[in-house]
Formats: sequence, structure tokens, C-alpha cells
Amino acid sequence: MNFHQPVLLKKTIEFLGVEPGKLFIDATLGGGGHAQEIIKSGGLVVGIDQDPEALVRAQQNLRSACPAALCSKQRAAIDQAPGFNQQPFKLIEDNFVNLEKIVLKLGLKTIDGILFDLGTSHYQLTQKNRGFSFDSDCLDMRMSPQLKVTAADLLAALSENELYQIFTKFSQEGRARVIARAIIRARQIAPITSGKKLAKVIEEVSGFKKGRIHPATKVFQALRIVINDELNNLSRGLEQAKKLLTKKGRLVVISFHEGEDRIVKTFFKEQAQEKKLTIITKKPIVPDQEEVKTNPSSRSAKLRVAQKN
Ligand SMILES: C[S@@+](CC[C@H](N)C(=O)[O-])C[C@H]1O[C@@H](n2cnc3c(N)ncnc32)[C@H](O)[C@@H]1O
Repeated sequence: MNFHQPVLLKKTIEFLGVEPGKLFIDATLGGGGHAQEIIKSGGLVVGIDQDPEALVRAQQNLRSACPAALCSKQRAAIDQAPGFNQQPFKLIEDNFVNLEKIVLKLGLKTIDGILFDLGTSHYQLTQKNRGFSFDSDCLDMRMSPQLKVTAADLLAALSENELYQIFTKFSQEGRARVIARAIIRARQIAPITSGKKLAKVIEEVSGFKKGRIHPATKVFQALRIVINDELNNLSRGLEQAKKLLTKKGRLVVISFHEGEDRIVKTFFKEQAQEKKLTIITKKPIVPDQEEVKTNPSSRSAKLRVAQKN
């Protein structure tokens, strides 16, 4: 199975306040799992992803999600939305760090909700030529082909101390020093150019028991965050999303690790203090046991919601 199961789907649709004829931005379209549900509920979606492969798949999925006959409010909203070409969705290949520019270019006026479902999709993780997983044949990790530096480039260029800093700062890896040293030793023999090789280097200094979380998990996460500048993008994307929403519009963010969630939580708190947003979820919503059982990668998800004042 290499399709992505949308995380916290029902809650996301509920908190976005999806209603027929309303317009939403899915800033991290992926396979279009959340976007499909918005369309089925009568909404319109601008779907953004920086990964062109994701857009190709999402396009097929969204087409098949469109009801044979659109409801009258959905049809009326399409007539008002420039560039939608009689469909309830419009797909854009871009980084959500350019959200304001995208909206300006499309000439959109009222945006009722914006969703960020962060990180990588299951599809990206399972493509061995992308380098996101422990059994990858390469070590790329770029979500967009526009980016220039790969994870293999980083491992070849950084010093032991720089690697240590990255593993500590971006994923709080407790064995950062040992792992950084092992990488330097390994690359003196041959460059580390595959996920398989990196995972093996880390296994050798950390041990690996089947059934446990892989000891390379945090290092892969840290490299991915750096390569894609994920935390900076998130801060800048949230700031723009807040400005673009219409009054009472909803901002829904699903994060998957501590670093992301801290940014979202702090941003919501600051905006609430300035009376720009109202926090809707005092505590983050997490998947129930049933969801974690059927979709284990949802286990670390945290959903936070704020509303524009
Ligand atoms: C977790 S997946 C989204 C899954 C989607 N909600 C679904 O249900 O199918 C995250 C997606 O966001 C994209 N992405 C991550 N950061 C991005 C950014 N800064 N700009 C645009 N797309 C981004 C990734 O390429 C990936 O396809």
C-alpha cells in the first residue's frame, strides 16, 4: 500500500467548518485525502504542494472525488472563483511559503479555511528513489526538485560538530555525538549516498531490535527538516495564512513532531494575545486508539485550530 491515509480526517473537516460553496486552501495537498473530503462536502479547494509527483496523483484522486452533479452553492462558487475551469479544485505547484503571492495571482477574495498537514506523505516515504526511508537506494530527501542540496550532499559536507548540532536541534537525538562520529568514520571509507547505508551506519552504533522504533528515525527526520527548511517555512506560512483568512475563517494545523508543534502553539498564543486569532483547541486533538491501530503513522499527530477575529 503506498497511498496516504489522511490523518484526523473527520475532525479536520469539522474544524475547518466545511460547508457548500466555501473556499479552502489545502497548503499541503499530498495525495489529496483531506481535499477530497472538502470537495465531497461541497467546498472548493486550492491545493498546493511543492512536490510535482504529489500533484499528479492528487489530480486523479480529486477528479474521482467530484460528485457527478455539483451542488448549486458549489457551482455558484466556482463561477465566482477565477481559474477554476468548472472544477471544484485548482492545483498549484509551489511552496506554501509563497501563500500570499499564490492567492494574489489567483485573484481569490474570501478564504474560509486553510489547512497545513505537515511533513511527508506515505507515498513520498515509500518511494525508494526519494531517499526519505531506511531502505532507500538514494539519499535525496528534497520534497521539491527546485531545491538544490540533497541529504547526501549534507552528509558529505558537514563537520562532526555541525552534524551533532543538526541532530540535537531538529530532533533531540540523544546519541547525536556518537552518530555524528560514526558518519564521519563511514564517509572516510565511502560516501554515504543511500538511506540503506545511513540506516546501517546508525544501526551499527545504536543497535536495532525488530519491533522497536528504528534508531535512525530521528536522524532521518532532522536531515529532512534541514533539507526542506521545514521550520522556517512553517513560521512564514502561518503568518501569511493568518492574514489571508476571512473573518471567522479557520486555520487548522496538523503537526508530527515537537519542533513543529511548538511553532504552531507559540504562534497561536501570540496571535491570541494580539487579538488577531482565537484559539479553538485549548489542547491539541490527537488520533484515538482505533486510528493509530489502522494508521500507525498517525501516532504522533497533533491538530490545533485557531479562528480569525
Ligand atoms: C502529510 S502530506 C499531506 C497529506 C494530505 N493531507 C493527504 O491527506 O493526502 C504533506 C505534503 O505536504 C507537502 N509539503 C510539505 N511542505 C511543504 C511546503 N512548504 N510547501 C508545499 N508543500 C509542502 C509534501 O510534499 C507532502 O506532499
